[in-house]
Amino acid sequence: MIFVGKRTEYLKAELENLKAQGLYFVERVRVGPPDNRVVIKGVEYILMCSNNYLGLANHPKIREAAIRAIEEYGVGAGAVRPISGTTDLHIEAEEKIAKFKRREAAILFQSGYVANVGTIQALVRDEDAVLSEELNHGSIIDGIRLTKAKRLIYKHLDMEDLEAKLKETKDARKRFIMTDGVFSMDGDIAPLDKIADLADEYDAIVYVDDAHGEGVLGDHGRGIVDHFKLHDRIDIEMGTLSKAFGVIGGYIASSKEVVEYLKQRARPHLLSSALNPPDVAAIIAAIDLLSSTDEPLKKLWSNARYFQKSLVDRGFNIGNTKTPITPVMIGDEKKTQQLVEMLFNDYHIFVQAVVYPWVPRGTARIRFQPNATHSIEDLNYVIDSLTEAAKKIGVLT
Ligand SMILES: Cc1ncc(COP(=O)(O)O)c(C=O)c1O
Repeated sequence: MIFVGKRTEYLKAELENLKAQGLYFVERVRVGPPDNRVVIKGVEYILMCSNNYLGLANHPKIREAAIRAIEEYGVGAGAVRPISGTTDLHIEAEEKIAKFKRREAAILFQSGYVANVGTIQALVRDEDAVLSEELNHGSIIDGIRLTKAKRLIYKHLDMEDLEAKLKETKDARKRFIMTDGVFSMDGDIAPLDKIADLADEYDAIVYVDDAHGEGVLGDHGRGIVDHFKLHDRIDIEMGTLSKAFGVIGGYIASSKEVVEYLKQRARPHLLSSALNPPDVAAIIAAIDLLSSTDEPLKKLWSNARYFQKSLVDRGFNIGNTKTPITPVMIGDEKKTQQLVEMLFNDYHIFVQAVVYPWVPRGTARIRFQPNATHSIEDLNYVIDSLTEAAKKIGVLT
């Protein structure tokens, strides 16, 4: 017998309301790895909305490392890190991440989301001030919400506004400037060189979320700090292992003191079980691969450049992207959902509408993510199909 939740029935009306506003997400259930093609209910689709930038999520060497680790370690870590969850694999991965990011030390977390929330909560005190970029990822925002520090939001990419807010907070114990490196819904990048100048002038700590920069920007995909060559001027790099690295997990790469402190005080490190050994082995293999070759990185960028230029030539607005993230701006939530449905049903292209709360209301878009697994034929098919579908529903003339 299934019990009906009488006291929670009120949520029905709220769900209907989300549907009426075009804000209701449909999760497509796929089988198989996130390569260029995926199968949903027995039908093949071109996948254009995965963060698997370099195709590492299904790379033979990385799969093999994970399988080997299952044979040696089993599937679960068995505990939180300080109890008994730390394996030699966790330590090796942290050392490799630190070396790859050209930092003194690194600490793994269970996801990028958890890395942001856990780190910000641990480092920021009531008497501090956080200066947070307007378009920061929700996990930074959630981390800040867990603190009682003074919070100021500076306008997107606006260094004058950041400076004004630094002046406003001169009495804080410490000031933290927190920013995404690459903005995940727009693909534009933070002016880290200018942020570093302001941080030097006002003695602020800089915290950068490199989720969409690593594996994409910098030498061999070392990320946005490497792209700007600012290793000695940016204090804390947060990253995720779920996107270009193709696995799962998050990390902080920084000074020895920051990492040692987080191992003592970050609540997800102390209160949530460690990453599973096969995931950690896969992370190590992904870093080894990226360190030894930049072929997938070159393919990613040549695909992204081709795709973006073609869309602009067809008359689409792709905003101010500087990375492979390709937002096709539509504006209206319902039209965006309609276009996504048409691409899915009529053209077998799998993309997602990006609507509120991911982006402000009225700025809905479709985020296309060309990656290293796509062929030119895949991209041409998507470009032609999108053009045809957008004309049909009147969002392209
Ligand atoms: C900018 C940014 N930071 C953090 C995260 C969270 O990373 P993860 O998916 O590993 O939890 C994401 C992923 O959506 C992201 O785009």
